[in-house]
Amino acid sequence: MKASNSQWKDHLVGKIEPGLASEIDAFDSEIALKKQGKMEDKVFAETRLRRGAYGQRYDNGQRHDGLESRRLAYANPNTKGPTTLWDAPGMQRIKIPFGGLNATQLEVMAELAEEYSDGIAHVTTRQDIQLHFIHIEDTPAIMRRLGAAGITTREACGNTVRNVTACPLSGVCRDQAFDVTPYAKAAAYFLLGHPDTQDFGRKFKIAFSGCGDNPCALVRIHDLGCVAKVKDGQRGFEVYVGGGLGTVPYVAKLYTDFLPQEELLPLAQAMTRVFARLGEKKNRNTARMKFLVVKLGLDEFKRLVEEERKLLTPDPRWTSYLDGIENEQETPLRDPGLLQIENAQPEDFRAWRETNVYAQRQAGYATVTVALPLGDLTADQLRALADIARNYVNETVRTTVEQNIVLRWVSESDLPSVYNDLKAVGLHHAGAGTITDTVACPGTDTCKLGISSSRGLAGELRMHMAENGAAGNEAIKNLRIKVSGCFNSCGQHHIADLGFYGVSRNKGGFAAPHFQVVLGGQWTENAGSYGLAIGAVPSKRVPEAADRILARYTKERTEGESFQAFIRRIGKAECKKMLEDLMVMPLHSEDTSLYSDWHDPREYTTGDMGIGECAGEVVSPLEFQMTASEREVFEAQLAFEAGDIPKASKLAYDSMARAATALLVWHKSFYINSPDGVVEAFRKEFHDTQLFFDPFAGGKFAHYYFHAHELLGQERTAESAHRLIEEAQLFIEACHSCVGRMTAAPVKG
Ligand code: HEM
Ligand code: SF4
Repeated sequence: MKASNSQWKDHLVGKIEPGLASEIDAFDSEIALKKQGKMEDKVFAETRLRRGAYGQRYDNGQRHDGLESRRLAYANPNTKGPTTLWDAPGMQRIKIPFGGLNATQLEVMAELAEEYSDGIAHVTTRQDIQLHFIHIEDTPAIMRRLGAAGITTREACGNTVRNVTACPLSGVCRDQAFDVTPYAKAAAYFLLGHPDTQDFGRKFKIAFSGCGDNPCALVRIHDLGCVAKVKDGQRGFEVYVGGGLGTVPYVAKLYTDFLPQEELLPLAQAMTRVFARLGEKKNRNTARMKFLVVKLGLDEFKRLVEEERKLLTPDPRWTSYLDGIENEQETPLRDPGLLQIENAQPEDFRAWRETNVYAQRQAGYATVTVALPLGDLTADQLRALADIARNYVNETVRTTVEQNIVLRWVSESDLPSVYNDLKAVGLHHAGAGTITDTVACPGTDTCKLGISSSRGLAGELRMHMAENGAAGNEAIKNLRIKVSGCFNSCGQHHIADLGFYGVSRNKGGFAAPHFQVVLGGQWTENAGSYGLAIGAVPSKRVPEAADRILARYTKERTEGESFQAFIRRIGKAECKKMLEDLMVMPLHSEDTSLYSDWHDPREYTTGDMGIGECAGEVVSPLEFQMTASEREVFEAQLAFEAGDIPKASKLAYDSMARAATALLVWHKSFYINSPDGVVEAFRKEFHDTQLFFDPFAGGKFAHYYFHAHELLGQERTAESAHRLIEEAQLFIEACHSCVGRMTAAPVKG
């Protein structure tokens, strides 16, 4: 039964940590003020985001039915942010530091999912849990109920220190230097609400890993990443800074190869101060710390952080958590055991055991991965998990960055009964950490920025790979597939073997959902390098594209050759050639099936496009030029691969100039030859008029072009050429989107 906020408030008096309780009370009041019209939209949006209450797709009150945009009938005209309607459903992100959960928390999550959401809890790519379809007025009750179970949603979103992640195997891992859990926990709670972390221009992400090689924590995609290391018998960390995915990804750089454990929190504090003081504040597109590190240079950044460190007033919390930490260890519930009579086990159990069971460093114990399709689990499954966590282990449960859940400290002799208990609630999927264990961001299901259905595609690939025997194919079974609904990379497509991100394409006046195919990213070595896109394939043809690439790898790989090495060896041109026929779209009049997205019956379109006489041409001049610019950026990649940096840079720039010219010709019939002239005209016609502005990213992508123009003729490093290629790709995508928007139909009332 759903009880009101005030009832929960009364009921939970004294059960919530006082600081958190007053935080939630304050939010309750802010909701009241907003309802009375006494709080600005922008301010309210920031305050709710800081508490993890996010917007959700269609919250502007519009939905496209495939033909035209229609208004959704929300009676209440109030808003909870610019163009975000009060009654429209939202998402609540729940911060789970290092992914650690106990049984009571799982049960609370079940209740909340059932009472306020759609009955489903969702594990994210940063070990958080999200509930969708939440009403803003229920959020204080949700926060109080979580607070009483020891969970805060504070700073789950917004320009804050986001969830601190850590390998889910910390403490039980065979490869770790030591257990990073207490350090991750200390960092999470030390920085939470800290005065030095309240004035960022953008989010700040921290991760801890117990080793340098395994992909459990992906430290190198983080603003601050710490890898456990022991030097001369002393504990400390190899520290990385300035990484981050997003539109243009950066691999974090080594800040120091050894930071003694006592210096961890002071360093984090000093770094957040420098970021708060010098990080970009106005332009959110360059506000992540990665841009600051590049702008200042690593040495100068380091100098500033060290200077700041000296100015800090010593805080007892820096080291108080270290007392006795080396002996701190979770305890098992049951005695260690051995799995008996192995041959008598049913086949499904054996398959599950092969992929989902990890032998811990502690003999006789195993960690079990509960593989969750797309990170989802129902309220009933959460309750069953809570029971299992109490019956077999000491409630030692963690979420993972691959959107799964692990149960640590399972006695090996209990594995068959744990399996049976999981099976009883449909949580026994085998294939954890394999090619069927696909990762996806929320995409068009619930994310406002989604372009294509990442969950639809990831679900489809999951089934497809299971059906075509990929899981049994030694060559490919351990590859990773990650899908994002747009270039923002929330699904971490850059660090997958096969990554995909959503884009749209227009053909003959109709829009069709596509995915860029990103090959050769690396999730090992803590996400050591990022893949590049080779071209866009219609959504519905992606499984076929994946099959072709995988079949080729299976057939032609040399002994011990990794997928990344194979892609490097055959080259991007060859990869693209394999997919070229799939990239050619039939006209809408010839085949409509590719003009809708996975699991969405509506025709996919960015608007009701008028088909004028000229649109009857099979290839319009615009399409022609846009295709040419895509080819050029692709050639830039090839030159890059061949080590020809000047050529790669020139081609990448040319591809942007060509796309800009194409838009000018299409929109204004301008034919200009000089590079300066094109930039100037593009700035005037598309940037200054805001026609090119993405509803979310604003003019960011135009600035990539302007910036590349400013640097024209200057020598580039391999790293900056790589970035230029990324930026050129994104600029071209933005040109496609701009055309899509300009040809879209207005909203009907
Ligand atoms: C400019 C806008 C955004 C950017 C640049 C962005 C970028 C990212 C990146 C790079 C990650 C994951 C990689 C990492 O571990 O660091 C991430 C995580 C995520 N993003 Fe976004 N994102 C944006 C907006 C959104 C929106 C609007 C949603 C939809 C509700 C969303 C949903 C998620 C989710 C569910 C995750 C994983 C969860 C977590 O942080 O706990 N993102 N985002
Ligand atoms: S990648 Fe894009 S579609 Fe996916 S959640 Fe992030 S912003 Fe949304």
